[in-house]
Amino acid sequence: MKILITAGPTREYIDPVRFWSNRSSGKMGFAVAETAAVRGHEVTLISGPVILGTPPDVTRIDIESADEMLEAVKRELPAHDALIMCAAVSDFRPKIRSFHKLKKSTMPPVIELERNPDILQQMLPYKGNRVFVGFAAETDNIHVEAERKLREKGLNLIVANDVTQSDAGFEVDTNRATLIYPDRDPEQLPLMTKVELGGVLIDFVEAQSMV
Ligand code: CTP
Repeated sequence: MKILITAGPTREYIDPVRFWSNRSSGKMGFAVAETAAVRGHEVTLISGPVILGTPPDVTRIDIESADEMLEAVKRELPAHDALIMCAAVSDFRPKIRSFHKLKKSTMPPVIELERNPDILQQMLPYKGNRVFVGFAAETDNIHVEAERKLREKGLNLIVANDVTQSDAGFEVDTNRATLIYPDRDPEQLPLMTKVELGGVLIDFVEAQSMV
């Protein structure tokens, strides 16, 4: 199969030296990409700024902003059978981006933000028979929130995890996830490495493509 994976944070620039971003390290997306490539799939990995090496046999496209990630996903999706959105896409960007460094003497105390596009929602009309997998990193009402995103984004599977736990979510090598599907009961997975979780997700994508 040809599998498109996104990873890492996006950066939304305020000026040439400052940006709005989040804590994503990219480890989950890179682990999924590594596992998919080891299984013999053709993998394209669209990544925000991270400090990780590209896994062997993976084609990597580096981007910074949510807009750049959207453009790359739009361009690549038609050639792929599945989209796994591990990226922590910034939902907002500064309304005004200065191309000169803002000086503290003139910098406004309030930075106005505007909404970024929702990449999964924008890709939904082009889904066709493709398998779409999303992630939901939550701190409250984890299942309810993940189920809402599953529906709104037309996903085949959403991976929900509680990022308040020290062994799940940002920066660590392990995850404790619940898999939520549109048509069957949720599945609570034990603590596992992100590479092992990547294996579970690729199992699902492979099984869906045979349905
Ligand atoms: N996502 C996306 N485009 C965005 C934001 C998120 O495609 N602008 C994707 C993420 O890659 C993830 C899923 O949607 O697979 C859920 O992301 P999350 O940040 O948990 O949810 P949001 O849609 O941002 O919703 P909320 O702000 O209500 O938590």
